[in-house]
Amino acid sequence: MKLGITILGATGSIGSSSLDVISRHPQRFQVFALTAQSRVDALVELCVRFRPEVAVIGDSALETQLRAALRARGLTTQARSGAQALAEVAADERVQIVIAAIVGAAGLLPTLSAARAGKRLLLANKEAIVCAGSLLMEAVRSGGAQLLPVDSEHNAIHQCLVGAADRARDVRRLILTASGGPFRTRTDLSAITPDEACAHPNWVMGRKISVDSATLMNKGLEVIEASWLFGFAPERIDVVIHPQSVIHSMVEFGDGSVLAQLGTPDMRTPIAYCLGFPERVESGSGTLDFLKVAALTFEAPDLTRFPCLQLAYQALSASPAASIAVNAANEVAVEAFLSHRLPFSRIAAVIEETLNQTPMCRPAAVDEVIALDAQARQRAAAVIGRSLHPAPAGLLAN
Ligand SMILES: NC(=O)c1ccc[n+]([C@@H]2O[C@H](COP(=O)([O-])OP(=O)(O)OC[C@H]3O[C@@H](n4cnc5c(N)ncnc54)[C@H](OP(=O)(O)O)[C@@H]3O)[C@@H](O)[C@H]2O)c1
Repeated sequence: MKLGITILGATGSIGSSSLDVISRHPQRFQVFALTAQSRVDALVELCVRFRPEVAVIGDSALETQLRAALRARGLTTQARSGAQALAEVAADERVQIVIAAIVGAAGLLPTLSAARAGKRLLLANKEAIVCAGSLLMEAVRSGGAQLLPVDSEHNAIHQCLVGAADRARDVRRLILTASGGPFRTRTDLSAITPDEACAHPNWVMGRKISVDSATLMNKGLEVIEASWLFGFAPERIDVVIHPQSVIHSMVEFGDGSVLAQLGTPDMRTPIAYCLGFPERVESGSGTLDFLKVAALTFEAPDLTRFPCLQLAYQALSASPAASIAVNAANEVAVEAFLSHRLPFSRIAAVIEETLNQTPMCRPAAVDEVIALDAQARQRAAAVIGRSLHPAPAGLLAN
């Protein structure tokens, strides 16, 4: 029997890599549902190619347009929209695999829905686990889901840990590698444009994660993600800059052995690993040419030029509310940067100020996570507003 798949965020970079791998295995996989937020045309093109049962557009105002476009192409795909529809296609009984590839905390509810419904959950949407790690892990346990990380670093660690009898006891530390992003060697970070920040040296990705890679916040979010996925305290998760992006991450065991997973920088490899697990299936990625790579080098991250990584460690040690605040403030700041309302060099300051104003607490339910996320977004927007329109000196004195 073919395995039914829902792709949340099908029109994005991970969605497109996932569909590429899926299309190589027509006997094994069948697309059940594809979703997008607002790009109706891109979603319809994917429907023409993959013929899903359901297409969901996040923005409900676009449902009629989606339905008409599907009909115009002669498709029987059902058009749906909104948060409830996203959650339902993630939990549908005809689905065995859900690929969580929405960007941002917006992906949390359908990701939780897939976990509660006991699906094989391929998690790319790191913001979901960053802001609701404990709730997501609990939903995976109680729903009987199988959580497999798509993020290449966590996927590498998953590969290194297979066979480790007792992960917490056997392992000394996890070592996440980071490319260092496009500004690794640049000293002046004052006049960076969105296009420069999105031009990653090794990976082709969506714009938000590309900016996160440039600030090193991506690595910070990954430290938090690794802590929840594998159950390690921040002291046992290290980050090392590895500009070639060939080693995707490593695990150091108690006997001193270090295992690493290597490969070309192509997200189809971790996606194929998750789709086929425990078998290996063809991904379409190229062969790693060691003679071309020639050298693998390593550096310490520069926390003075890239303070976002430190802020994420700080939040992870402080409280779950702090992780929510860091993630929300980062989303707001990156959006402001991408729309030319905030300089690149101010992203970290917005996150730090938001974090400093955040009361520390541990949300016990998803509604509390959503409320904390909304509060942090408001604080971050206010910080950005103040930096654009500073109060006159007389007002500051009061
Ligand atoms: N790209 C990578 O190589 C990579 C690697 C590791 C991890 N990840 C993680 O994977 C996730 C996706 O990244 P990406 O690079 O694929 O992002 P992307 O290219 O920007 O795609 C995002 C997808 O999410 C949809 N979307 C956006 N906002 C939404 C909302 N509010 N509600 C519902 N759907 C929404 C988009 O729909 P529209 O097209 O209609 O806007 C699109 O389908 C992120 O969490 C990222 O950190 C990505």
